Amino acid sequence: MSRTPPASAPSLPSNSSALAAAVDAAHQAGALMKQHLRRAKQVNESHQHDIKLELDVRCQKLITRVLARAFPAIPVLGEEGIDAASEQAVARWVVDPIDGTVNFAYGIPHAAVSIALQVRTADGFRSEVGVVYDPFMDDLWTAIRGKPARLNGRITRVSTRPRLDESIVSLGFAKSQDSLKAAQADFLELTHRVRKIRIMGSAALALTYVACGRFDAYVEAGVRLWDIAAGGLIVECAGGSFVTQALPGEHRYGLIASNGLIHDQIPHARASGAKSKPVGPKGGSKTPSRSRS
Ligand code: IPD
Repeated sequence: MSRTPPASAPSLPSNSSALAAAVDAAHQAGALMKQHLRRAKQVNESHQHDIKLELDVRCQKLITRVLARAFPAIPVLGEEGIDAASEQAVARWVVDPIDGTVNFAYGIPHAAVSIALQVRTADGFRSEVGVVYDPFMDDLWTAIRGKPARLNGRITRVSTRPRLDESIVSLGFAKSQDSLKAAQADFLELTHRVRKIRIMGSAALALTYVACGRFDAYVEAGVRLWDIAAGGLIVECAGGSFVTQALPGEHRYGLIASNGLIHDQIPHARASGAKSKPVGPKGGSKTPSRSRS
């Protein structure tokens, strides 16, 4: 006789079926974002360095519905709402429905949907599947742990630039005063050592730009888990390094992502002691993250 597993202990989805559901959800939310880019948007909350839109909430609900149709027992930990079950679950979705909300709110077409499937491990959670979708460029990055990352279905890799002074480094300017100060220090420190600094306003896209070699590194002093859970895995699967440091506050991290070759040349990495290790063959991750993607 076959037994149905209890709701609290769902069997894990196969990574390929999880990827298919996440891609479906990302495409649907991306279509909604694209439809609304140039329209007036309802602002639910406005702070000095942050905006929350009604559309963020609508996109997260849509994503949750699509994922729940495929995997009803897997909870969602998202920027716009956290299912309490996600802290204890064996698996959870980590969702940023619109990463780059401020860009999107101002009509700047640089924002993305980010969805990761994380699985519980002995010391926390680890991303197994990652999807980042930029609906404005129709760029879809996907990764399954242990396999190569893909951009629009084709294998993608980090850059091979070995020198910081030839590199494009992206910085994130987050929301809190302490992370803004740290970002200013990074800016002053790095700006004369790199070819160009870019500050584009979407952590998920900064990570995927590293994954496909458009950027050589991305540094941010205070992101949240939903900004980086999918993109971090995509960087690792593209052969790069993704080093995070847990910060005080819930699901908060500092991070340095890079092609791996320039990690140790980033002054911030030296200062914080964040160590990157050589990346294994075939894009599999050997990077020790203090908290994993
Ligand atoms: C933000 C963006 C931004 C980064 C912030 C994030 P949100 O995410 O990724 O680039 O600098 O740290 O919070 O709020 O637009 O989803």
